[in-house]
Amino acid sequence: MLSQKFLSRLKNASAVTVLTGAGISAESGIPTFRGKDGIWEDKKVEELATAATLENNPELFWKFYNWRKKLINEVKPNLGHYALVDFERLYEDFFLVTQNVDNLHRTAGNEKIVELHGNIFNTKCSKCGKIHTEPISEVIQLPECKYCGGHLRPDVVLFGENLEEKNLKKAQEAAAGCEIFFSVGTSSIVEPAASLPYLAKANGSYVVEINPEETPLSDHADECLRGATGKLLPALVIIIEKLQS
Ligand code: APR
Repeated sequence: MLSQKFLSRLKNASAVTVLTGAGISAESGIPTFRGKDGIWEDKKVEELATAATLENNPELFWKFYNWRKKLINEVKPNLGHYALVDFERLYEDFFLVTQNVDNLHRTAGNEKIVELHGNIFNTKCSKCGKIHTEPISEVIQLPECKYCGGHLRPDVVLFGENLEEKNLKKAQEAAAGCEIFFSVGTSSIVEPAASLPYLAKANGSYVVEINPEETPLSDHADECLRGATGKLLPALVIIIEKLQS
């Protein structure tokens, strides 16, 4: 049962911001970072996707990213992703902030989006910082930058690295300016993304968590919807369409 306050916001809001995490892509077949799925060749994924592994063991780092890119290349967006394309159609001032680097929101059709942690299909030069968008195949030898000869790495934000300032600013503006803030499929522990719902709430937004499990945000959210995004987000779209008609 959704609260009256939530229903009224769903009906009348025009500014809606959604933050997504690995949980929304889990139903497409991409393992999440933490919990039982977050293991690759006996190593914790959250310990591989780090600036320290890139620096100390680039071969292992690329082996892991070759695997992850191949996996992501083979999957498709799911019903949760497509529901967020409907959100973008239904709310005039919609904005999607994702921590996912898998490009699935763009493939599904979202356009008002900031990829806080980058995009796995791009590479970036470790030396000159230029972004390369042309696809690269499986990496055996470390790829080189065509401009300066430096080593290329995936254009993703690793543990131990800072986010692009302009992306963070956009996300913070969208959080501070929205009437409803959805935190979807994220464990709500990785900063600075984890602070966005609190920023939204401090500015009067109604904060809704969608996750089958409790997170540190749960006690602070105005509403917690427990379940999978592939079911709950399409159900919300039906409710919003009815309320707005
Ligand atoms: N629907 C909704 N949520 C789900 C589903 C689902 N079907 N399946 C799992 N979840 C939830 C889990 O309960 C968990 O809370 O998704 C969350 C995934 O959490 P993490 O693996 O920690 O992923 P995320 O929050 O995106 O991690 C943040 O950490 O390692 C870094 O840069 C990486 O972007 C990542 C960041």
